[in-house]
Amino acid sequence: MTRRYLAANWKMNVPTEGIGPYLQAIAAWEDTPEVEIVIAPPSLYLSELSTQVTRHSRHVHVAGQNCWDEPNGAFTGEISAPMLATCGASHVIVGHSERRTIFGEADDLLGRKIRMALANELVPIFCIGEDAAARESGATERVLENQVRGALSGFDEAGLSILVAYEPVWAIGTGKNASPETVDEAHEFISRLLTEVLGAPVPILYGGSVTPENAEDLAKVSSVDGFLVGGASLTSGKLEAIHRALSASQ
Ligand code: PGA
Repeated sequence: MTRRYLAANWKMNVPTEGIGPYLQAIAAWEDTPEVEIVIAPPSLYLSELSTQVTRHSRHVHVAGQNCWDEPNGAFTGEISAPMLATCGASHVIVGHSERRTIFGEADDLLGRKIRMALANELVPIFCIGEDAAARESGATERVLENQVRGALSGFDEAGLSILVAYEPVWAIGTGKNASPETVDEAHEFISRLLTEVLGAPVPILYGGSVTPENAEDLAKVSSVDGFLVGGASLTSGKLEAIHRALSASQ
């Protein structure tokens, strides 16, 4: 049975039902150890979440949404990988499209963040994806290749503990998810590229308007190793339906 991943990116939100009830609901789901659940709250809630998760559920992990590329120092407003680890995080999202576009994070910085995460035994969830203009002009593969090579060149260790999330920017928060065929085509391309760059295949998650309605079809795509879910992850019931779709497609 292959391992699959369900990552919940709360962004700058908390579930409306409250953190405690949300985690209790997750703890009551059917136990499916082959699906690793990773929750990325705003950093302020990391410690609270880590403590509650440890108490409630063994297959739930906690992630930072971002980290800086230095362990400490004069970087007002930032949080470091060692700090995330101290708060109980085991993963960190790096290079989310909102970090790239709103905060101007470039590939070389993202590569350094990934190194810092790995040095602190955090699993990076490295996000890549093309915007609408790139897709429409046929530049998708070129953009994905630049993002992968720009951040990961020089990481030649096979078996590196890293997850990649393919998140087409035009599908994030728009309700326009990529079709299963589009996702499969992109994942196959990324998989070949990662094997070339890192010397080994890496699990690839899909993200971009994943909902209970489309999760079943997307989960059936053999190149999809899991999901990175934003909006729908803010309600435990929706996340549960997506989790069920992933578990059923094993
Ligand atoms: P979405 O967000 O599911 O709301 O589209 C996904 C993401 O940004 O990770």
